[in-house]
Amino acid sequence: MIEKEKIEEVKRLVDIVGVISQYVQLRKMGKNYRALCPFHHETEPSFYVSPEKRMFYCFGCKKSGNAISFLMEYEKLDFPAAVKKLAHSVGLEIDTSHGLKHKELYDTNESAAQYYSLCLTREVGKRGKQYLLERKTDINRLKEFHLGYAPTSGGLITYMRQKGISSDCLNKLGLISNGREVFRARIIFPIFNLSGRVIGFGGRGIDDNIKPKYLNSPESPIFKKGDVLYGLFQTRENIRQHNDAILVEGYFDLLSLYQHGFNYCAAPLGTSLTENQSSLIARYTKRVNILFDGDLSGIKAALRAIGLLINSQVDVFVTALPDEQDPDALIREGDEEKLRKAVKDAVDFFHFYRRMVKTDTVEQEVTLIKDLIQMISTIRDPIRQDRYIKYAAHVFDITEDKIKKEMRADEVEKPVIKKQRETKLTEGEQLIIWLISYREFVSLAREVLSSDDFEDKNLKKIYELLCKDDKISVDEIMEQSNEYVHERLIGPLMRNEPISQDGFTSALIRYKLRVEDRKQEVELARVKGNEEAEERVLRKHMELKRKLTNLSWDHVQAPQ
Ligand code: GTP
Ligand code: MN
Repeated sequence: MIEKEKIEEVKRLVDIVGVISQYVQLRKMGKNYRALCPFHHETEPSFYVSPEKRMFYCFGCKKSGNAISFLMEYEKLDFPAAVKKLAHSVGLEIDTSHGLKHKELYDTNESAAQYYSLCLTREVGKRGKQYLLERKTDINRLKEFHLGYAPTSGGLITYMRQKGISSDCLNKLGLISNGREVFRARIIFPIFNLSGRVIGFGGRGIDDNIKPKYLNSPESPIFKKGDVLYGLFQTRENIRQHNDAILVEGYFDLLSLYQHGFNYCAAPLGTSLTENQSSLIARYTKRVNILFDGDLSGIKAALRAIGLLINSQVDVFVTALPDEQDPDALIREGDEEKLRKAVKDAVDFFHFYRRMVKTDTVEQEVTLIKDLIQMISTIRDPIRQDRYIKYAAHVFDITEDKIKKEMRADEVEKPVIKKQRETKLTEGEQLIIWLISYREFVSLAREVLSSDDFEDKNLKKIYELLCKDDKISVDEIMEQSNEYVHERLIGPLMRNEPISQDGFTSALIRYKLRVEDRKQEVELARVKGNEEAEERVLRKHMELKRKLTNLSWDHVQAPQ
């Protein structure tokens, strides 16, 4: 676990605007910054960052948090990794190796990766080395990928025993099965998550007798195939900088491209692209170039990926390779230039789709047209969508109106974010929001209100926190309150509506008077029938109210 003080220090030093602006284009709007929300699709910006409150909030999807939670959400990091990354950016170093969930599993994978890469440098790994040489894979230019080799004779179990690692872990990770090592005579590709931890392995048999040709670790508590892209950990910064990614099919495609300077690639793990992988890559780039094999299965996989990527609001291009060729083979055969040109000449998804889908019958043509219209209907950039509609109308000789009609007919229930109507704030909530936003009012409030004047125990708690330390950060307040408070208060808090001191004090007094009225009622009910007591209650409250309405604020320091 990271110590609380360290976390606080990181929070204090980090500038939330600086952090978020590395990922999202922020525009200044008064005290806050605004942008299109990176967590849901929208055309009007409703994502706000408040440097003062050190918080972000989206009025559309209601996501909110601080710099740490932003990084966790955006980069899919766990808490320690997010803190560590932020700490690093402000020059602090933190050791997060303790307290990580599934630490034993990560450590085991780490050791296994070490073992396999060690083998590649030893006599036992001669055949692996030879295989890589034949495929012109230069491990020196691929250091970040930590390639390895699992020898035919095994050895992992012994190595792990020496390190004191339990076979239970090895089993859970699928490194051994029925007491035998699973990866043998294979080139090993460690698969990293976005925090740089090894979560699984891929292995390529070093000769054709080894079946299956490729073998992946089975899913485990730390490895979900459909959620990772091979290489993304190593390439994501390049992808972000290029605002372009090349999506390839396999491990070797990726490594060959990388080695030849195409360092902005990623690959699904041998299965067709999943929705999660598609939205994962969309976080780093708005343009993806699909570079799959030129064979039938490659084309089919590309057609499938197109739909998913378009739906993730990515502009999709496809690099068509000649029949039966794959990018790795092209490079290996020294046709690097050919590949470079092919990548440059990638065609947009529409062209590719139309060209690749054979339509021998009218019915097939109808299906093709409908498929394309369906894809166009998911494009949310209105100008781009309009362009494609016009283009489709032209190509298929259909009126734009008919296409639009089909798009509407086709419109599946999109997951629109429920715009829950914000119910009106209670007076108590409003007071608390002002107090959080304008701390100079806390001393005014203390003159009048005790924490018991808040019936709602959430509000009471926040009021107590503010009275105890009027410098307390919004973050800390939010941390100490529950979900309900977040939902009710964060929106209005970010809106930051100004209030004058007069406005605040009259609201304060109105609130207190109402509280007193309620108390009076309760007391009266309690002494009902006893005239003397009733009169005492009435007099007491009259006196209180008179004091309140005549309250002079002269002795209170006026806020600026
Ligand atoms: P090489 O023959 O090594 O050049 O591989 P390739 O990239 O030409 O392989 P292919 O096009 O057949 O497959 C692309 C990707 O699919 C590979 O990188 C693997 O991730 C996956 N794959 C291929 N064959 C298998 C298999 O038999 N089992 C599994 N699980 N995955 C496979
Ligand atoms: Mn291939």
